[in-house]
Amino acid sequence: MTRRRITLRQLETFAEVARCMSFSVAAEKLHLTQPAVSIQIKHIAEAIGLPVFEQTGREIALTAAGQELLATVRDLDDAWNRFESAIADLKGFKRGKLRVALVTTAKHFLPRMLGQFYQRYPDIEIELEIANREKIVERIRNNQDDLYVMSLPPRELDVVSYPFLENEFVVLAPETHWAVGQRLQLGDLAAEPFLLREPGSGTRHVIDDYLRMSGLELKVRLSLSSNEAIRDLVASGMGLTVLSRQALAEKAEQLGLVELDVVDFPLRRTWSVVHLRSKLLSLPAKAFLGELLKSGEEQR
Ligand code: PGA
Repeated sequence: MTRRRITLRQLETFAEVARCMSFSVAAEKLHLTQPAVSIQIKHIAEAIGLPVFEQTGREIALTAAGQELLATVRDLDDAWNRFESAIADLKGFKRGKLRVALVTTAKHFLPRMLGQFYQRYPDIEIELEIANREKIVERIRNNQDDLYVMSLPPRELDVVSYPFLENEFVVLAPETHWAVGQRLQLGDLAAEPFLLREPGSGTRHVIDDYLRMSGLELKVRLSLSSNEAIRDLVASGMGLTVLSRQALAEKAEQLGLVELDVVDFPLRRTWSVVHLRSKLLSLPAKAFLGELLKSGEEQR
């Protein structure tokens, strides 16, 4: 019964406030006044019988009821997207929205694939998010996107994953480094400073897992979230690193970086396309998933 008393418009306003976590910023984005936004949120709270936001000092946060409502709004949004693309399909063309989120390293190769997809389906609107693995896992948990590209699908969530491409992690050094050209164990480099991706990244997960398994420790001089910055700093002689080969693009030679010959390396993982098992994929999402799997096969 409350459903009829809450309008889609009010739900859109609620979702915008939840996204910005601010009544005034949301009002500005929606071209409304702040009191108009507050009234809509108040109306929702009255219809539900519970507040959806709570105020702590100057900050607002979602209440438990607000979190439930936000998850429901996302489901409604999904259903609407599927409806739009189904109608577009009935009309004989592919239209709709595709929301893809990538881990940082995938940005070195995936946008090219997305570009090809865009050329084939120019009427599909694409929303792309890039963040490290930890944040992508959070986005999966909140059902924020259609598809995710990562190499370590979260075990703690009920997801389906489709492996489509190899992902190899290599040890890199500047070309003048003493270890270049030698066959080594990673332990031989224990005294060297390392520049690694930040905790929470998929890359760091892979390295930390390997270190834990082999009982080794590395001297981490710097942790940072940018593959490009790590590449440049290693090239300038600040230390060594372990990165996905894809993060180098064509830059390795240009920067004077050399892959070291280390036992057990490259560490081999696989890029996967991931979605929540409960997610009913829209036509654009199905089409993009199909393209990625096909391009993976072509590269094998
Ligand atoms: P990252 O993820 O960019 O967060 O390090 C890489 C990966 O999943 O392989």
